[in-house]
Amino acid sequence: MENLVTSNKIWQDKRVFLTGHTGFKGGWLALWLASKGAVVRGYALDPGTEPNLFTAANIASVVDDVRGDIRNAAALEPAIRDFAPDVVFHMAAQPLVRYSYEDPICTYETNVIGTARVLDAIRRTPSVRAVVSVTTDKCYENKEWLWGYRETDPLGGYDPYSSSKACAELVSAAYRQSYFPLSKLAEHGCAIATGRAGNVIGGGDWSTDRLIPDLVRGFLEGKPVLIRRPQAIRPWQHVLEPLQGYIQLAEHLLSSNREDAARFATAFNFGPADDDAQPVGWIVEKMTQFWGEGATWILDSDPGVHEAGYLKLDASRARAELSWHPRLRLETTLQWLVEWYKAWQKGEYMHRFTLDQIAEYETLKPVS
Ligand SMILES: NC(=O)c1ccc[n+]([C@@H]2O[C@H](COP(=O)([O-])OP(=O)(O)OC[C@H]3O[C@@H](n4cnc5c(N)ncnc54)[C@H](O)[C@@H]3O)[C@@H](O)[C@H]2O)c1
Repeated sequence: MENLVTSNKIWQDKRVFLTGHTGFKGGWLALWLASKGAVVRGYALDPGTEPNLFTAANIASVVDDVRGDIRNAAALEPAIRDFAPDVVFHMAAQPLVRYSYEDPICTYETNVIGTARVLDAIRRTPSVRAVVSVTTDKCYENKEWLWGYRETDPLGGYDPYSSSKACAELVSAAYRQSYFPLSKLAEHGCAIATGRAGNVIGGGDWSTDRLIPDLVRGFLEGKPVLIRRPQAIRPWQHVLEPLQGYIQLAEHLLSSNREDAARFATAFNFGPADDDAQPVGWIVEKMTQFWGEGATWILDSDPGVHEAGYLKLDASRARAELSWHPRLRLETTLQWLVEWYKAWQKGEYMHRFTLDQIAEYETLKPVS
């Protein structure tokens, strides 16, 4: 395998088209890639919440900020083609399980047709050499078993969100086989992979019906937070962990040895260390402790719609083949995110604060 130069050098002047830059993960990724020297064009809808990371951390100052819908080919195609990117990170999605029950059609249109639109636009953009399409741990058929899911396990999904992400995986695989076959990578040049991460947490998420933003909103208002399903186990991880994985995956897809790149044009899990897959109740207790004054919660006796009870990811492949390893234990992750929200509450300059957390993350050694 080609020996990769340091990632910062790889990203210097690379042209990156990033869908979903106005969202939580996309905002962090835009800032990180720009700090590595990449030229980033973001394509997304307006931020979906108030407050939001895009404004709080002034993401607009580091990206070419294009607002548009991925379902709208007439707007999307020229936005990609005219920019002539080397790399595409596709993160735009309807990412919420509970909302997907309310509006399944929007969820499927955005996550399935939207993904097909992005890949279809890439067919007519010859500059693209690497695509990382982001799906989720929830794309597997959940058997409620103790083991982590591997990339070879069957796709599935009980609820519209989970199944739409399994569909997005199938769409990516079909586009790879039909239009970007690995056997002809030297000719067409474009390597497509997918990234499946766990429950991502960190500063700057204000989505509804997600545990950390719900806790932070309640703590800030001094109101007890309603907690559903305290026993549910999830693969929690700091947002920088999967982003580091997507970045390393893209670096391998960019390898000038195209045969080597072909080995990585497939699906990768990016999950936390096994003992960091913890129940919701554990997270809530730690958050209450770390936040301090004003932090209280009560049990919601109505758990609402079906959500998986047990979910773990097996990231052995990313560890072995990409040398990707988690760098933050879950307790430290919670401390980092509490620090982020408290700094925001105090009115600190969050662009700098977010970059500082990224810089600190880059100095960390693998935890396992
Ligand atoms: N946050 C998590 O825990 C988590 C876990 C696993 C996977 N993911 C995946 O990571 C990606 C990013 O998630 P997030 O947590 O940052 O979500 P988010 O809601 O914070 O951001 C979603 C982004 O997608 C954009 N978007 C939504 N619909 C669009 C449309 N029709 N056209 C253009 N842009 C559109 C939004 O404008 C926003 O920029 C998603 O694909 C999500 O499914 C998230």
